Amino acid sequence: MTFKMFVPRESTALSLGAHDVANAISAYATEHTIDLTLVRNGSRGLFWLEPLVEVETSQGRFAYGPVEESDVAAVMQDIVDNLLNGQAQKHTLALGLTDELSYLKKQTRLTFARAGITDPLSLEDYIAMDGFSGLHKALAYSSQEIVTTVVDSGLRGRGGAAFPTGIKWQTVHDAPSEKKYIVCNADEGDSGTFADKLVMECDPFMLIEGMIIAALAVGADQGYIYLRSEYPVADEILQEAIVIATQAGYLGNDVCGSGKTFNLEVRLGAEAYICGEETSLLESLEGKRGVVRFKPPLPAIEGLFGKPTIVNNVLSLSAIPYILSKGGQAYQQYGANRSRGTLPFQLAGNVKQGGLIELPFGASLQDLLDNFSGGTQSGRPIRAIQVGGPLGAYLPPSKFTLSLDYEEFSKASAVLGHGGIVIFDDTVNMLEQARFSMEFCVDESCGKCTPCRIGSTRGVEVLDRIRDDDDRAANMVLLTDLCDTMINGSLCAMGSMTPIPVTSAYRDFPEDFQLPASQTVSQETNHG
Ligand SMILES: Cc1cc2nc3c(=O)[nH]c(=O)nc-3n(C[C@H](O)[C@H](O)[C@H](O)COP(=O)(O)O)c2cc1C
Ligand code: SF4
Repeated sequence: MTFKMFVPRESTALSLGAHDVANAISAYATEHTIDLTLVRNGSRGLFWLEPLVEVETSQGRFAYGPVEESDVAAVMQDIVDNLLNGQAQKHTLALGLTDELSYLKKQTRLTFARAGITDPLSLEDYIAMDGFSGLHKALAYSSQEIVTTVVDSGLRGRGGAAFPTGIKWQTVHDAPSEKKYIVCNADEGDSGTFADKLVMECDPFMLIEGMIIAALAVGADQGYIYLRSEYPVADEILQEAIVIATQAGYLGNDVCGSGKTFNLEVRLGAEAYICGEETSLLESLEGKRGVVRFKPPLPAIEGLFGKPTIVNNVLSLSAIPYILSKGGQAYQQYGANRSRGTLPFQLAGNVKQGGLIELPFGASLQDLLDNFSGGTQSGRPIRAIQVGGPLGAYLPPSKFTLSLDYEEFSKASAVLGHGGIVIFDDTVNMLEQARFSMEFCVDESCGKCTPCRIGSTRGVEVLDRIRDDDDRAANMVLLTDLCDTMINGSLCAMGSMTPIPVTSAYRDFPEDFQLPASQTVSQETNHG
């Protein structure tokens, strides 16, 4: 008997025992003289089903999950006796054809089209699923045509600030310099986010292709992926992918025979949230302490080592191959308002079915809850959702119907950020969450400016006094003033956005700021 199976080598699946499952499958195949091809694929991003084991059948891939090592013998027996014999599957972990899983079927996967399907390190797999077709188009274009295609797509940076990518590229393109750089921001520090990691672990050639296209667009010959050190699996896969792409002539001194040079290296950060901010990141890349730089000059004019530099998030760069391959218009037909294309939402926190959900902008939190979440893990009602990482607003159920796009969120004093969505049930105490936001800023501030460095420390103290009912009314006024100072006086978004979760907590959950001290401190704090 001969067949093919897939077990992910992505870090969530690995943390849930995917290696043990793969080893047990191989051992079973040897023992039962099954001629098995076992592919270590990426993940589909349906984390509650990991390790998701798939079997190739004539109807398509069939899924079992979540599979533990102890399930392997019975699952293999079901595959051999039933699935591959055209009989009904009897094992309780049998999920049906993978493509028919509603969590996947309801998505619009442009960036994550290959995730979980291919072997991340197989160039053959990548090319078979449209890989490098964007690069080949780009090689036939002038640098200005590449930039114009990106402008036409309406793509805006996925790292949080939503700055139009095409305009950034145009600035670097127009900057006169012999030396330019492409820097990929893979620091991914927001709470509840994992989309960058999923790209790097499941489809690394897509990111590499996006960076090569960026280099062709602006005339850069060197790129760096600034990766958080907590992502060792991504590091390993990226390093291998870069070697493979170099050996195949996609990277190096003669990119696809074009005579153009582009070399790429991974650099590991040292776990500081502020090093995700682009100018601190550049300082860190230069070997210095990660402190925010004054702007101007913009990195696009004076970036890494003082040279014009594109700094883009992993997801922004990963959208580029599709845009070049299908055209700017094809990408920009998706979305709502001026938020074009898709956003990979990352469902996390107190949720049953956490995972990656790529949808066009314009869906709502309610859509995500109804169609994907499966409810809270605790089984209790949802009280708040924080969207956009630790600097994002806490939204109450009355705002769950808001359109998930940059414009509507901005009108509601909220941010989409990197698409992280963290769910809290009704045991959450919002004063404690506001305090947590200030405390996070205390821990992560780079310390360069006073409103952030000192303001966040005072913010924790003021919130403690409010919690302890120590002149609560006067301290609420002080908190409002302090937030105002941080918003208007901070040098970067770390300090100016920390008040977003704080003000949303007291605006939309005022009752938690009036509880007697005995109740407030006794409730459990849920940090997602
Ligand atoms: C405190 C702070 C942390 C940030 N962390 C990240 C991060 O982890 N990843 C990221 O891509 N952008 C992050 N950003 C945004 C970057 O400064 C920058 O806007 C982004 O890398 C630009 O790429 P984009 O235009 O593709 O979004 C952060 C910003 C701030 C203020
Ligand atoms: S706002 Fe905070 S993180 Fe940003 S420069 Fe000022 S001290 Fe540093």
